[in-house]
Amino acid sequence: MDRRNFIKNGSALSLLGMSSYAFGKDVFTEPFIVKDMDNLVNEKGEYILAPLPYDFNALEPSMDAETLNLHYTFHHGGAVKALNKDVGKIKDALDKNDTETIDYWIKKSAYHGSSHILHSIFWTNLSGKGGGAPKGELLSRIEKEYGTYDRFKSLISAISKNVDGAGWGILAYHPFTDKLVVFQCENHEKLTQWGAIPLLVIDVWEHAYYLKYRNKRGDFVDALFNIINWDNVSMRLDYALKTK
Ligand SMILES: [Fe+2]
Repeated sequence: MDRRNFIKNGSALSLLGMSSYAFGKDVFTEPFIVKDMDNLVNEKGEYILAPLPYDFNALEPSMDAETLNLHYTFHHGGAVKALNKDVGKIKDALDKNDTETIDYWIKKSAYHGSSHILHSIFWTNLSGKGGGAPKGELLSRIEKEYGTYDRFKSLISAISKNVDGAGWGILAYHPFTDKLVVFQCENHEKLTQWGAIPLLVIDVWEHAYYLKYRNKRGDFVDALFNIINWDNVSMRLDYALKTK
């Protein structure tokens, strides 16, 4: 299916039985995929819960309607609502220069933000007309990395079943190596946000600072801002923007 053809589905909103107050105005007016990208925020930068691209019963019997309703409405929807709250709390903490609560809300935003991103991908990974096997470029890359589709299926099935506690099995494209990769994710984040392309990284392992700064990691981080190559950070941003 053409990803652009995921359409607005008014029935999803009516089945939700929800008002849009929790997510702001116009939240339910956009599809999940816009210009081949996941539709995660509105024009004001607020996180949004787009309508499912199908009815709640569309994935029966593999996924029952009640499970899908609860999962989408309360788990994914709850993460979106919480993520907007987290962002507001981070802004408040910055206004007050309150580093203790910033740390707390940043962790929350990593958890909720990663939940939002992964669930948005998950819904569009599924279809009542799905199944079968991959074709074309995807299949040839799978065969290149894993030999055959069946071997790949064994791999992602096994690692998905064996995630410790709550989490995800993931197939991803790694742009730095031009390779497919398969991995497990515990919870949603551990503490990253999926799909983010790094622009600036700060190593705070003890090996990065202990000889000079001993236990004063904060002093090291402060000092690092004297030597950051912002031209390089800008170059990375230019590259990342071309991927959109
Ligand atoms: Fe989930």
